[in-house]
Formats: sequence, C-alpha cells, structure tokens
Amino acid sequence: MNTREMFKRAVAGGYAIPAFNFNTMEQMQAIVMAAVETKSPVIMQVSKGARNYANGTILRYMAEGAVAYAKELGCEHPEIVLHLDHGDSFELCKECIDNGFSSVMIDGSSLPYEENIALAKKVVDYAHQFDVTVEAELGVLAGVEDEVAAAESHYTKPEEVIDFSTRTGCDSLAISIGTSHGAHKFTPEQCTLVNGVLVPPPLAFDILHEIEKKLPGFPIVLHGSSSVPMEEVNTINQYGGHLEAAIGIPEEQLREASKSAVCKINIDSDSRLAMTAAIRKHLAEHPGDFDPRQYLKPARENMKKMYIHKIVNVLGSDGKLAQC
Ligand code: G3H
Ligand code: 13P
Ligand code: ZN
Repeated sequence: MNTREMFKRAVAGGYAIPAFNFNTMEQMQAIVMAAVETKSPVIMQVSKGARNYANGTILRYMAEGAVAYAKELGCEHPEIVLHLDHGDSFELCKECIDNGFSSVMIDGSSLPYEENIALAKKVVDYAHQFDVTVEAELGVLAGVEDEVAAAESHYTKPEEVIDFSTRTGCDSLAISIGTSHGAHKFTPEQCTLVNGVLVPPPLAFDILHEIEKKLPGFPIVLHGSSSVPMEEVNTINQYGGHLEAAIGIPEEQLREASKSAVCKINIDSDSRLAMTAAIRKHLAEHPGDFDPRQYLKPARENMKKMYIHKIVNVLGSDGKLAQC
C-alpha cells in the first residue's frame, strides 16, 4: 500500500509510522515480527546502497514476502509500504515505481531550490499515474545522505514550504530541524553533560511548529532519527568494537515530534547497532561457533526488541492498524 491513508490517520491520531531500513533477511523478519506483534503499520525502506548491496529485485520480492509472512504470523490485514529511501534521480525513482514500490523519496535537497522543485515535480507526475506516493525534502541534514553530502545542515525555511509542496505536489515533506544520519550526530562539544550523560542540543521545534502552521495536517517526515542507545554502543565496545562518542536523538524528543504533524520517522542506525552488538557478544561468548544462524538468531531477536520498543514507547503506532 502507499502512504496516503496511513499518514492521514497518523497526523490525526498524533503518532508516527516507523520507517525502518532493511538490507538483510534478518532485518526484514525482525521488522515484520515487531509490526505484527504490536499491530502497527510499518514502512520498510530501501536505500540506493541497500539495492547495491542486496540487489533491488531481491529486496522487492523480500517486501512481497514480508506481506505474506505477516499474514502467516496471524495478521490478516498488514499495512506495509515498500519505500525507496533517498532516491537521487528521476531514473532511480522510475525504476522503483516500475518495479512495484508503493512509495518513493526523491531527495533533491542538495540542489538549488528551483531544481529541487523541478525534479520532485517530475517524479510526482510520474508516480501519481500509478498511485505511488512521493516524499520530497527541503532543507539539508548534516552528515552524509547516501551519496548526497552536506558539510553542514541548513534548517528548512518555513517560508518556503507552501510554495514547495504546492508546486511539487509531493505527498509528504522531509524537513531539517537538527537531526542527522548515522551514529555520530553531534560532537561531545555540542552537548551538555547531565548526570554523566552527554545531552545534545534540542531539535528546532519552533521551526517544526511554524511549518505545521503553514501546512496544517500536511505529513512531515524526520530523517536521521536513531537515538543510538548507549547499552548497544557499550556492548559493541565491551566485545571488541571501537565506537567513540556515538550520540543520537533523545527518545523524548522523538516522542514529542510523533505527536505533531511528523508522521514518518526514519530509523536505520539503531538497527545496525542492535545487530552488531548481538553478533559481537555472541561470537565473543561462543568462539567456537561458525554457523551464521547461531549468531544471526540473537541479532534478529535484538533488532526485533528494538523495533517493538520504538513502536510502543516512542512513535506510538502500536494498535493502529485499520483492521487487525
Ligand atoms: O539515510 C540513510 C540510510 O541510513 C541508508 O543508509 O545508504 O548506508 O544504506 P545507506
Ligand atoms: P539514522 O541514521 O538516524 O538511523 O537515520 C536513518 C534515515 O534517515 C534513513 O533515511
Ligand atoms: Zn535519511
């Protein structure tokens, strides 16, 4: 299914739909199990990097398999979107639309304003012929967005959002209010030390609220929303990893954002951390194991636990299926 009805209900209901990236079968299984157990709609998203790693055709059929698997797990009416994350060209978006994706993102955020509009509109015009929904982005996140590099972030300008959404016809808008991709979202110098914990600067909720006023009820998307759980980082480091100064977005802020027009929250890094922590721990404790199933099973369990936590305790999308 596409995102249209899903987002309408999420904005009205004051919760956000989880958008989890997947590259492997174990991630896909963990996402489906978590969504079924919590009766949550879910967006399964695939980046250009994921397509290069796992092959676009395989991922597309894995998503079809995800729907069948959800039904097999007892969910008669699963709500699963297959979404292209950070599409960087019309051609890539078209290929995904032609191959059965129900939603795509065109990320022209690093382009000049008028070029971003022209590219997004071209994708929207094509996608809407097939009832595929389109996410566009205005404002630039800090860090690296797939191959779209941005040295510093530029918050979304509220005065541009009406013009941008009207002229592109996009179905949802990704904005920049202080989140960023990866596990190192802030430097320790940018944070304040509170009870031994580094607390990053708050998200720009004033900008979010201004955008909401300009576009009442319009679906807003937050990228770069991993919280980088300290227990996973500590496990990785305890069992031979070396992750220094990994800092994410505090979950209370994501909880607050979920209650607003933010109706899609993107999480990828937390899944990577949960998987790596479980694999490192398992292999350190069982040095004789060499069957991948022995360490991928706890990795899948740990990701599932993380996905359920996000759905229930952060985004509030549990129990929000239209029909169970
Ligand atoms: O926003 C980026 C996502 O986390 C995807 O990352 O390009 O490494 O697959 P990736
Ligand atoms: P994180 O790196 O914070 O998980 O963000 C993922 C994302 O925005 C995918 O588009
Ligand atoms: Zn992103």
